[in-house]
Amino acid sequence: MAFRVTLAVASAVSTLALLAAASPADTGAQTDNAYSTGIKSFAFDDAGYTYCNPGYPQTESYAPLPDAQLQLVQVVVRHGDRTPVHQLPNDDTTWTCDGIEEDIYLHAANQPERNNTGSYQQVIEIPTWNKKYGFAYQLWKGTCDFGELTDHGKLQHRTLGARLRSIYVDKLGFLSEKLLRKSEVYARTTYIWRTKNSAESLLGSLWPDRGFTPDVAIPIHTYPQQIETMYGNSDACPAIRKITANITKSDQYQEFLEDQGPLMARLASIFGINGNSWRDTWDGYFDVLNARECHGFQLPCDHSADSVKGSSPACATAEDAAQVRRNSHYELMLKYRDHPLAQNLTQLTIGSFWGTLREQIDSHIAGKAGDLKFALYSGHDSTLIPMLAAMKASNHNMLWPPYASNIVLELWKKSDGSRVVRVLYNGQVLKLQKGHEWCDLNACPVDTFFSHIDQYIPTDIATQCTA
Ligand SMILES: *[C@@H]1O[C@H](CO)[C@@H](O)[C@H](O)[C@H]1NC(C)=O
Ligand SMILES: *[C@@H]1O[C@H](CO)[C@@H](O)[C@H](O)[C@H]1NC(C)=O
Ligand SMILES: *[C@@H]1O[C@H](CO)[C@@H](O)[C@H](O)[C@H]1NC(C)=O
Repeated sequence: MAFRVTLAVASAVSTLALLAAASPADTGAQTDNAYSTGIKSFAFDDAGYTYCNPGYPQTESYAPLPDAQLQLVQVVVRHGDRTPVHQLPNDDTTWTCDGIEEDIYLHAANQPERNNTGSYQQVIEIPTWNKKYGFAYQLWKGTCDFGELTDHGKLQHRTLGARLRSIYVDKLGFLSEKLLRKSEVYARTTYIWRTKNSAESLLGSLWPDRGFTPDVAIPIHTYPQQIETMYGNSDACPAIRKITANITKSDQYQEFLEDQGPLMARLASIFGINGNSWRDTWDGYFDVLNARECHGFQLPCDHSADSVKGSSPACATAEDAAQVRRNSHYELMLKYRDHPLAQNLTQLTIGSFWGTLREQIDSHIAGKAGDLKFALYSGHDSTLIPMLAAMKASNHNMLWPPYASNIVLELWKKSDGSRVVRVLYNGQVLKLQKGHEWCDLNACPVDTFFSHIDQYIPTDIATQCTA
């Protein structure tokens, strides 16, 4: 799928078309594939899946629960489209991130700014490579930092914010049309810029004319990196590394790596990379190929002298990229959902964050959450993957979360006073893994919901992390 937001060349698909809802066809269809190992029979269920854009909440088909009142909405998102986080030597792609200005401090409209340090425009500068003053290292061209939210990523979160507005403001009248009290909203991001900028884009279109007084800004909360809980923090929790290593060493995982080893070796040679981080996981391959595919860029070719001399250098192909996606889906399902150690890994990776979500719901039920109606948590694929795994999401819903993927947890109070939780993932009620249908997530009694989730909330994180 090809696109450029910056109105440049070779746009195969218009931006508008890309921003239209890409609703995953969750048909439950079981697809066959050509593996020759234990994953041969694995049902990927990836019909209709696209990595480049999420399914957005569906304004038309969204229906409130009957005889019930909405009380709290928690939204957990992945940041939007970004530049790669794995660098290749000889990268000659061009990435642009400067079409939409950032302003992370969400000022109210028509409010004088309070004390500040003046204003500035952030410019990422990538000098033309001249080997004169620089290091012997070449980054891509353009206006983007490593792992930065692109203009398209910002637009994805604007689209998501607008969809949330159309449902929770326009359709349900649940959230205020204008945010008059900032106590109605809580926002948290990881410490990484792309998640802050994603939150900014989303909130900026959920409440496009922030006219609230007397507060001037929506606070965006961030935990310092050392204590971050929105992804597996293996520096804070060394047991995460140990369990991951044990999963990697297991027969099932080794057989998988061996089966797909020739593809990994070929791509490593084309990319001109090596090292541990490229050996036991498909993560880097997935990043390199998908980030480029989502922008319609040429996939990497072999730049080694021998290859360049030949008439046609070896290049990664679209089929390679498709196989890498499947390998990556399989890898994450195995590690976080299906392996005998998956529950341990998922618990230490995201259990603390689940605990935070639970506390917010509990305090709301106890009437101690004040005006709070909407909470936004802006994170990563590594936030959503273990969250979905803890809920035993279906194979289709466990496919690598597309950019701007969104989990919506709604807390409803029924007319009999009981509470239920609804879980929407990329616009659809979350479906569960075959044989693990522990609740109907269109309306799951809150006690049932947490008696399942509690298995993943650590009771003694300090001890478990150092075990
Ligand atoms: C701005 O800073 C000055 C000096 O620290 C302080 O006296 C003043 O109250 C501040 N104004 C606001 C609106 O915070
Ligand atoms: C990892 O595997 C080793 C060797 O099989 C075992 O002794 C250890 O307890 C395992 N640790 C974890 C965290 O699974
Ligand atoms: C995995 O979790 C189970 C259940 O909580 C626990 O009994 C076991 O010790 C854990 N294993 C490891 C290796 O952490």
